[in-house]
Amino acid sequence: MASMVTVEAPASSANLGAGFDVFALALARPKDRLTLEKAQSGIKLSVHGEQLPTTPHSNVVEAVAKAIMAGERVREGVRLRLRKRVPIGAGLGSSAASSSATVVGMNALFDLRLTNKKQIDYAGIGERFASGTAHYDNVTAALFGGFVLVSKDKSFSRMEPPHSLVLCLVIPRVKLPLQKTRYARSLLPRRLSIEEAVAAVSAASMMVHGLAVDSVEEFGAAMSGGFVDTRRSVMIPGFERVKKAAVEHGAAGVCISGAGPAMLAATKGNKGRVILEAMTDAFEKESVKSDGFITKVGEGCRVIEQKGSVTLAGQVGRFPF
Ligand code: HSE
Repeated sequence: MASMVTVEAPASSANLGAGFDVFALALARPKDRLTLEKAQSGIKLSVHGEQLPTTPHSNVVEAVAKAIMAGERVREGVRLRLRKRVPIGAGLGSSAASSSATVVGMNALFDLRLTNKKQIDYAGIGERFASGTAHYDNVTAALFGGFVLVSKDKSFSRMEPPHSLVLCLVIPRVKLPLQKTRYARSLLPRRLSIEEAVAAVSAASMMVHGLAVDSVEEFGAAMSGGFVDTRRSVMIPGFERVKKAAVEHGAAGVCISGAGPAMLAATKGNKGRVILEAMTDAFEKESVKSDGFITKVGEGCRVIEQKGSVTLAGQVGRFPF
């Protein structure tokens, strides 16, 4: 059995406009990295990174590790060292990345043989801890990678995203309430009109069809303008201007990434750089500074190193924040 493991878990974009709390994509970068080492007893956590957690996110690792130790009757202790690279409070699944890394790391370190459903359950504890509500879209994407659909009972399916899909992510530097996800959820209506419900079903169906026929255009068209982004766009100054700029420069579609404020544009080929610049320029025109990067759909959380043996080489990309 391993005495030390290191895992990497990716950032993710949930909802994708058309699939609130159901659809999510794992991103190829950035990734959190977590090293877990057996100890005699208890849980000891240290956190490192450019953007150190200052909110309850800092403790999702501890909360998830504690839940696993109690639920799986782990008798030993664990030392955890988190290198935080997924930006916090941006809508990029930061707490999901750290929670998933903890689940996969604990599973490997203590040879727990957790089922997929149990992994989602435990990672969801971190989400609830960080945002007050358990939703499983980001954690499922972070755990298993690719494009996922997750249902209320935590069963999930993975689908191949369009193979040429390129993702532009732009994070505006805006001040949002500390409990940002809770706030973003409070902006949503409790009931939908029949028109909005029909539009939501239509967009989600089109998105899945876009995947089935490998079409970035169809996938992107389904991303824009749903009932969630319409309500949440008030959190993002210049939302419409940024969206328009992205589309004018070749984006197939634009949506809010997760609970925001990051905005995600879908494209293909080599248009990513131009779209990214158009989006950050548009924010600049609204006097909003922003940080952006280009990425692709990525794989799920995995063990990259066990004590003494490297399993799979993980590629850690550079990103500009
Ligand atoms: N589906 C969730 C939401 C993701 O949009 O509230 C946030 O992490």
